[in-house]
Amino acid sequence: MKKIKILLLVTIVISCDGNTDSKKNKFEYKAIEKKEDVLDKNSKETFIIINSNDLMKFDQNELRVFEGQKITLTLNHTGKMSKEIMGHNFVLLKKETNLNDFAQRAMLARENEYIPDGNETIAYTKMIGGGESDTIIFTAPEKGSYTYICTFPGHYGLMRGVLIVS
Ligand code: CU
Repeated sequence: MKKIKILLLVTIVISCDGNTDSKKNKFEYKAIEKKEDVLDKNSKETFIIINSNDLMKFDQNELRVFEGQKITLTLNHTGKMSKEIMGHNFVLLKKETNLNDFAQRAMLARENEYIPDGNETIAYTKMIGGGESDTIIFTAPEKGSYTYICTFPGHYGLMRGVLIVS
């Protein structure tokens, strides 16, 4: 099994060789998607991987971390559609942020990748399209539940979840 995985990776590397950088980037996330999520309160770090797709879905709607942990979060877009049509991001909102109000204003902030002005987020990735990936690092806030959404117009109804900090 391990051999097969290595072979697959080699194939990906070879098939990317000589292509443009943008094509190479499309496969970058494959190298990290195997890393398993870690849930250990003694650990100072947690790695989270969330996949999103052409069906306007996150593959996780609940994430658990511990207060003060350094969170390395990777958002993958496993679909094929462009970011202009099926763009996704991961936007973690502060506790006091009003979800509907924020999401309405986000829809209008196209020139800023649908992140509205203001100090209402804890962290967010860039907007990505099919085959792309983005990783952010942030510190887990104080204990509580925090909403995360995709702010692409029309997506937050389906693309939302909660980060639970213990
Ligand atoms: Cu989206």
